[in-house]
Amino acid sequence: MLYAWIKAFHIIAVIAWMAGMLYLPRLFVYHCAAEKGSAQSETFKVMERRLLRAIINPAMIATWLLGLTLAWMGPDSRYGWFDSPWLQGKIVLVLALSALHGLFARWMKAFAADANQHSQKFYRIINEVPTLLMILIVILAVVKPL
Ligand code: HEM
Repeated sequence: MLYAWIKAFHIIAVIAWMAGMLYLPRLFVYHCAAEKGSAQSETFKVMERRLLRAIINPAMIATWLLGLTLAWMGPDSRYGWFDSPWLQGKIVLVLALSALHGLFARWMKAFAADANQHSQKFYRIINEVPTLLMILIVILAVVKPL
């Protein structure tokens, strides 16, 4: 019963994290088109900072804490889920998603300092990466093909 509650909150945290990870690069795409110093550009800075600080960062921490708790509580009393290949593969992909999160934070800071180095096309391509990782992670967690 406790396990099911933790899983429910794990999924809620995942939804919040993913919502932010899919929306932030979209904001970067629009931000590229806004002139530096314009009112629009300043609005994007506030939206990006709030999205990262209020939603994406806490949701990532909650996803990790609840996911690791579930992993410890898994079916094997000694190893939990940790000796299952699906979880090992999932952790590698979630580490990649977390690294991308770190890059988003770096790019947000660059936009905040009017020092963005990347093109609109770059952010359009990057926008697809969290989607791809999410599809693979959910298949590993639900279907457990490994
Ligand atoms: C941060 C590291 C993570 C760990 C250690 C972790 C671990 C786990 C564990 C042990 C379960 C329980 C599986 C079961 O009871 O069958 C679970 C469920 C789940 N996780 Fe994660 N998870 C993490 C991150 C994520 C992420 C980033 C996503 C999605 C993008 C995700 C999506 C899911 C889903 C959809 C379930 C429900 C699976 C089911 O009940 O069939 N998890 N997770």
